[in-house]
Amino acid sequence: MTQHANHSLYALFRILLLCLGLMTASVSQAETKQAAVSMPDRHSAQVARQILAQGGHAVDAAVAAAFTLAVTYPEAGNLGGGGFMTLFASARDEADKSGDASPQSWFLDYREKAPKAADQDMYLDEEKAVIPFQSLVGYKASGVPGTVKGLWAAHQRFGRLPWKDLLQPAIDLARNGFVVPESLATTADWYQGWLEEKLSPAGQPLSVAAGFKAFADPLQAGKRWRQPALANTLTSLAEQGEAAFYQGVIADQMVKAMQAGGGLITHQDLAEYQVRWREPIRADWLDYELVSAPPPSSGGIAIAQLLKMKQLRQADFDKARNKGDLPDMALRTHFYAELAKRVYADRAEYLGDPDFVEVPVARLLSHDYLQERAQGMDFQSISKTETIRPGLAESTDTTHFSIIDGEGNAVSNTYTLNMPFGSGVVIDAAGFLMNNEMDDFSQKPGVPNVFGVIGGEANAIAPEKRMLSSMSPTILLQTDANGQTNVAAVVGTPGGSSIITSVFQVLVNVFERGLSAQQAVDTTRVHHQLWPKNEIKYHPTLSEATKDHLTLMGYQLKQHGYLGDVQLISRHNNQLSAAADQRGRGVAQVWEMHAD
Ligand code: DON
Repeated sequence: MTQHANHSLYALFRILLLCLGLMTASVSQAETKQAAVSMPDRHSAQVARQILAQGGHAVDAAVAAAFTLAVTYPEAGNLGGGGFMTLFASARDEADKSGDASPQSWFLDYREKAPKAADQDMYLDEEKAVIPFQSLVGYKASGVPGTVKGLWAAHQRFGRLPWKDLLQPAIDLARNGFVVPESLATTADWYQGWLEEKLSPAGQPLSVAAGFKAFADPLQAGKRWRQPALANTLTSLAEQGEAAFYQGVIADQMVKAMQAGGGLITHQDLAEYQVRWREPIRADWLDYELVSAPPPSSGGIAIAQLLKMKQLRQADFDKARNKGDLPDMALRTHFYAELAKRVYADRAEYLGDPDFVEVPVARLLSHDYLQERAQGMDFQSISKTETIRPGLAESTDTTHFSIIDGEGNAVSNTYTLNMPFGSGVVIDAAGFLMNNEMDDFSQKPGVPNVFGVIGGEANAIAPEKRMLSSMSPTILLQTDANGQTNVAAVVGTPGGSSIITSVFQVLVNVFERGLSAQQAVDTTRVHHQLWPKNEIKYHPTLSEATKDHLTLMGYQLKQHGYLGDVQLISRHNNQLSAAADQRGRGVAQVWEMHAD
């Protein structure tokens, strides 16, 4: 990484300030000055740590890591996709305006939007039947990307180090190359075959497959991979900022490719794309405040509903458990599946982009509603899927990282191309892939998307609308007796619709079951989402006895080696722990800031 003189001066200045005890923003971690990262690969972990060591804010580390992942984790790290960032942080602009630098919760929505030319029936044939895979592969599958503007907006509000310095590690990795890990090579190989098979049913040009093949051929495990076109793109971003992507040379490259391939994204779509700062979902749970993703994500509402309904039925669950006639994990899995049935029924009916549909957030989270909704389940038998209706009276690939800096500022960031390598469309001249996020819309009421979740009118396609998501970057806060608020956890994961149940289970594992961060992440997870009927996905480590009991109860079991790649940081007795899911290629580290 290039060291600039102004960096060193800035770092020196910050050290001086620290020595003078003038860092008023450091209320939340005064005792420990620990920092932690939990990242999806070793390159992003190294870059995030390096940026923090240079005096960067957690957001500086997040921006640098996100650009790094666009190079080293091309399955999901991206320039051509979008995502969400949940923060607990001191904002520079707030401090400038009001002089109040105390940390607060924030949520940044940089989700893709449907192009202006999109319409509700764009993936249907004359008979109004869904054309297979058209929302998943090729040029028509992409929403207008939000990642670059999102990272820019976060940096504008919170960043301390110069923008271009945050891109330098990614530029170096793209130009000099890195050694391809086994899992990247395997996923690229699998995706290449999948893409070739699906392109013609989707009526998309086979040149997409040739383009992806040229991109993926050098991805050989153990071999160095260099990306000169991407290095040039990142250099333009470093020098010209987000404008290079939305109005400049990169916009030209994207639009040219879209026009040649029959895609919908235009110069106007790019120039008018805006991120949104939104109120996060906040919910009390145990002694904590949950801060998570609001619509257009379903994640925050769904996780809050799961946690709260679980609390409401915990005593009954404990009673059933004490009877001891079912293995603990079978009972727990059934309980979670019953909770999830109700939550995913609401998700399908009520949730969509809040700029287009009114989402009844307060009602979906109200105590009375959840109390009533949680009553209709028992611990012996499965509720009939068809009877689980939305409850109000009327009317693999994404990536996540978690960062806490030495002052207690926290970033929880999930971003994605949707499937691994997105739509398969490579913007050749610019060296990056486009998303296939349009599949997260409901193509037609009741027809499931690639993750098997259904939706209706609230998530129908409309020009410039954001598609419903399950991404749930989450932060847990705890306020002590002196009124000081600390970050108790930073967590999130990929996994499509299973993101919600994974984050839920990991929070329960740490804060109710008392598992260590690593155990909480690595222990067996299960997933149910209302449809397919009574299907439970499970990690291969689920015991035979549990599987037998669940089968006897009437569940269909489906083994799944993945179900997310959780990146967790949690705090116990004022000490941070960090854990990266053993199922991915992540790296987690905690360190004392003065050690660097
Ligand atoms: O926004 C969503 O919910 C999906 N596009 C996320 C996709 C995902 O997590 C794929 N990962 N395995």
